Amino acid sequence: MNSSPSPVLVAVAWPYASGSRHLGHLAGAYLPADVFARYQRLIGNRVLMVSGSDTHGTPITVRADAEGVTPAEIVDRYHNEFVADWERLAISWDCYTTTGTENHTAVVQDMFLRLLEKGHIDKRISEQYYDTEVGRFLPDRYIEGTCPHCGYTEARGDQCEDCGRTLDPEELLDPRSKFSGSQPELRSTEHFYLRLTDFEEVLGQWLEERKGWRRHVLNFSKGWIEEGLQDRAITRDLDWGIEIPVDDLGDGKRIYVWFEAVIGYLSASKEWAEAQGTSEAWREWWEGDKARSVYFIGKDNIPFHTIIWPGMLSGYGGLNLPTDVPANQYVTFKGGKASASRGVGLTIGEGLDLFEPDGLRYALAANLPEQSDTDISVEEIARRINEELAATWGNLVNRVLSMVHKTCDGQVPEPGDRLPEDMALLATIDASLVTAGQQLEKVELRAALRTGMDGAAAVNAYLNATEPWKVAKEDPERAKVILGTALAAVGGVRVALAPYLPFSTEILNDPFGPVTGWQREELTPGLPVGKPSPLFAKVDLGELLADQES
Ligand code: MF3
Ligand code: ZN
Repeated sequence: MNSSPSPVLVAVAWPYASGSRHLGHLAGAYLPADVFARYQRLIGNRVLMVSGSDTHGTPITVRADAEGVTPAEIVDRYHNEFVADWERLAISWDCYTTTGTENHTAVVQDMFLRLLEKGHIDKRISEQYYDTEVGRFLPDRYIEGTCPHCGYTEARGDQCEDCGRTLDPEELLDPRSKFSGSQPELRSTEHFYLRLTDFEEVLGQWLEERKGWRRHVLNFSKGWIEEGLQDRAITRDLDWGIEIPVDDLGDGKRIYVWFEAVIGYLSASKEWAEAQGTSEAWREWWEGDKARSVYFIGKDNIPFHTIIWPGMLSGYGGLNLPTDVPANQYVTFKGGKASASRGVGLTIGEGLDLFEPDGLRYALAANLPEQSDTDISVEEIARRINEELAATWGNLVNRVLSMVHKTCDGQVPEPGDRLPEDMALLATIDASLVTAGQQLEKVELRAALRTGMDGAAAVNAYLNATEPWKVAKEDPERAKVILGTALAAVGGVRVALAPYLPFSTEILNDPFGPVTGWQREELTPGLPVGKPSPLFAKVDLGELLADQES
């Protein structure tokens, strides 16, 4: 048992409510966060898993403009879609909210004012692009051009989707306005800036001391510091967004979406606490040495979580910086980078229309881009489900439960006199739970899944070696011992797979009972065992591809 349960904040990237999220996002952040949170709860830690829909910024307004509807309509549509996706996938949020709440505005404005008061925010006049044809300044995604780093010609004012670098609009070569297509001109405008340079030393030191972080995350972040931090504008010429809590910039300016979205982790924690009727309870996850915070994000979000947000937190004072940021690389879809804004790859909803949720969760978890980019396709998902999940795990469960029905009257048999080979199997399963636990703790979720599946393979090998179906004819007592052992081992494997497969885990509550801890439990002899039915349907790829064409 867990002798010292500790608070674990599972902080998950806030998806822009500007378009459907695709399977790459699911594998990048939401699924790994859910697996990690489920594991942490099982070992007895107090988990607070938060996120919400990111409702501001130019991704939303560009989409609204393109469709000729209000930003609020776009936000409602996609927020509702995300909530439905999470429900279908059983993503186990403690609080999934939006950045459109009054609470979020209050928390953001409080942080802005505190940073202003402490001198970490100041006002500056700068030159920014202005579209003379429509008479507007052009923030972020309203401007496109050629990336100065990689030469990609469709780079946006905030980021190049090709090489992943964050950009300032002035850096783009051959800039074009998204409103009119014309070449914009530079004009003076006044904005608030976050003095990131104030934190250069503190953050450099902090990053030096991080242990156990993914190498690509640490290298990227240290690289940013080595290049020298730059103060960054945290307001924009936009009328969709959170109002600046001081009114000295005039109309038409709002807080920059990235400055406020990261504050969502804190505001959602406060919203959760308020909803519990314990408004100060959020502090448990944000203050003190015992609390851990793990941020699940895709690699394009790294600097916001390893530099800018830690900088803001340092300036604010009293709140913990991230314990770990196990950012994932990208999932490509048949070679192309899955991207919601370019319409590449399956949306989460489309994936769920094609596959059962546990099948999809399994296939993506087996292909998580933890160290490098991975490629998925409908064929690969189907292969993982058929050849691994159904063939190794589903089949095993079905086989053992059927034999228990045939040989043990549909009841859990007495353990009886277990032989060394029986004890060896149970020891293997118990050891696999220890190994998987260590891997999950390090957020090596692919490896932990592999460990669980190796456990299933070990039970299959044990059955092939002991052949209880043959033994049942000459020595029914021995056959019962074998099946009781196999049943106990299956129960242990089920625990290892529980964070990944919530739906099929629950189906097996009969006979195993709900999973309540990270260990194998002996079943009570005599307990009736439910009739087995296949845990996972095999995917008919031909049919599925034919449906997709039509
Ligand atoms: N909305 C951003 C995206 O979809 C992610 C924001 S994460 C947070 O890429 F840091 F702002 F919370
Ligand atoms: Zn680029």
